[in-house]
Amino acid sequence: MTYQQVYDAWKNDPEKHWMDAAGHIDWVSPPTKALFDENAPLFEWFKDAEVNACYNAVDRHVNAGRGDQVAIYYDSPITGRKSQTTYAELQTATAKLGGALQAKGVKAGDRVIIYMPMVAEALVAMLACARIGAVHSVVFGGFAAAELATRIDDATPKAVIAGSCGIEPGRVVAYKPLLDDAIEIAAHKPEFTVILQREEAPADLIDGRDFEWNDFQTDTPLADCVALRGDHPAYILYTSGTTGQPKGVLRPTAGHLVALNWTMKNLYNVEAGDVFWAASDVGWIVGHSYICYAPLIHGNPTIVFEGKPIGTPDAGTFWRVIEEYNVRAFFTAPTAFRAIKREDPTGAFVKKYDLSSLRALYLAGERADPDTITWAQDQLGVPVIDHWWQTELGSPALCNPVGIELLPVKLGSPSVAVPGFDIRILDEDGTEMRAGELGAVAIKLPLPPGTLPTLWNAEDRYRKSYLETFPGYYETGDAGYVDDDGYLYIMARTDDVINVAGHRLSTGAMEEVLADHPDIAECAVIGVSDTLKGQLPLGFLCLNAGCDREENEIIAECVKLMRDKIGPVAAFKLATIVERLPKTRSGKILRGTMVSIADGKDYKMPATIDDPAILDEIKKALKPMGYAQ
Ligand code: COA
Ligand code: AMP
Repeated sequence: MTYQQVYDAWKNDPEKHWMDAAGHIDWVSPPTKALFDENAPLFEWFKDAEVNACYNAVDRHVNAGRGDQVAIYYDSPITGRKSQTTYAELQTATAKLGGALQAKGVKAGDRVIIYMPMVAEALVAMLACARIGAVHSVVFGGFAAAELATRIDDATPKAVIAGSCGIEPGRVVAYKPLLDDAIEIAAHKPEFTVILQREEAPADLIDGRDFEWNDFQTDTPLADCVALRGDHPAYILYTSGTTGQPKGVLRPTAGHLVALNWTMKNLYNVEAGDVFWAASDVGWIVGHSYICYAPLIHGNPTIVFEGKPIGTPDAGTFWRVIEEYNVRAFFTAPTAFRAIKREDPTGAFVKKYDLSSLRALYLAGERADPDTITWAQDQLGVPVIDHWWQTELGSPALCNPVGIELLPVKLGSPSVAVPGFDIRILDEDGTEMRAGELGAVAIKLPLPPGTLPTLWNAEDRYRKSYLETFPGYYETGDAGYVDDDGYLYIMARTDDVINVAGHRLSTGAMEEVLADHPDIAECAVIGVSDTLKGQLPLGFLCLNAGCDREENEIIAECVKLMRDKIGPVAAFKLATIVERLPKTRSGKILRGTMVSIADGKDYKMPATIDDPAILDEIKKALKPMGYAQ
């Protein structure tokens, strides 16, 4: 079938499309139907089924006689360690950890926070939770204690599973002291923690509260896979919204199994046994869907890579991994390719390795600029597939469906709507726009299986953030346009979310941090263009009247404050002090205009601006920093 035929077949009979896809999942009790719409505009899928995600990701492969096949390759150029875990070993590991958690009272529905670096045990922890129905919430290691505390208070976990440290180029990041601080700050206190000790920085354990990973699992019973309802939450993953309070994206078990499994052949074009590699982090959605669940459910060995695209040890590290494990489909963020291209523009490292196993490269997480795509295509000689999705959606919504049909690649476009997604470009009033016109990217409800049904503990926020602007549609927060061939182009965010090195961050959250500095009266954070990371945050600081402290000192304190409160991942290093911020007459800060000025783009003088002269002051402040050129 062609892409168009598959898309039309879905559109004509979505129920059949999804029930057919559900046939590839092993159910304890199969669903009687796919869509449950009685709470529209909140939708649920496969709700009346019974299923277990760990069974589908692990046990079923063992039962099918593939227990000796490798499930996880761990490759850590940063420590020099490598290991392999077979499906049979993964079954034992998840049963042991799951059993130990149950023995400490963790039941289906209890939350468990996972704060771990890129080690195979991070996947074991996620799957052990899935095995016993505990709802995991993985927190990215680059977040600081305060961010972890916010998530502890929102998810109210019974337990936290953490690594003693993460390893970044040139420094060991001790996670355990951050965890201790977070538990100290949080109002909710988890009952216990399980700590994976790493030799680079073993942690001090608090007697009675902290348990060492191996000791914790000695002499405890093995856990079976617990039968869970289709709508049982598999996990909560926090993502940036417009405020300091992150959004807890909820992922129901059955929908995510069906949707992820479907994407592996149809979008990523892999058969069971093919090695699939997503070079991301388990703390992000790409890590949840395409390092952990989708490859394992579909029977594809996955790679847990603890390293960076450059510097661990060089710009050839990705190619070495592809050669060594015969990677067939490779997924990463454009920023990683920009970093490699900067170090190795002629592709000298690429030529050192045999990349003949590779069939396609997939890019997502931020806009893939045509230069990067062309460079990657020239170097690797395989299709470079830009695809678009979000934490909320769980799997790609726009993609060149390579496993169905390789459509012509159009530079700058993540291609066409994936079956299941009816994507429209709307104007402010919700009217559909014509081809070529820039508008809000919205998805007609219901969203397909695997997408969020709501936000954890925040249904009102879910409705307000996503469903109210365009009734009948899900608002993505992105702006874009569609061309005459139905290809979409994603151009920018419509809110205060920025994308730094493929990491989604909230400028609102950063402003809340800066506002806490005692000398700051008012501030604004914007995302400015960056040739490596796509965007970087830049802060404008207005000081309290009478403050006569050294400006550089205040800026340095703000940079440190951001690192301490949000974490190094915020990459907040640019700030400037200004007298005033440009605002509308009603007091709204004109962040969009400041972005245009910083990026040296043309802009229209906003009709409602209070005092146009301020824009010149902004320009003057930005020029010495290399912006507004
Ligand atoms: N734990 C602790 N700190 C972390 C961390 C982690 N898991 N991940 C990143 N950090 C720190 C980094 O050490 C860095 O700290 P620094 O300011 O002291 O240097 C900071 O957070 C910013 O990290 P990063 O965004 O990774 O930038 P970088 O300059 O270290 O590396 C790239 C640049 C392009 C190599 C890197 O961003 C990269 O590999 N990007 C790929 C993006 C990606 O996979 N995104 C996932 C979504 S698909
Ligand atoms: P996250 O939820 O962290 O995956 O971030 C999702 C956001 O990243 C989207 O809403 C987009 O703004 C951006 N994004 C992801 N993939 C792409 C892409 N292929 N092209 C452009 N922007 C993208």
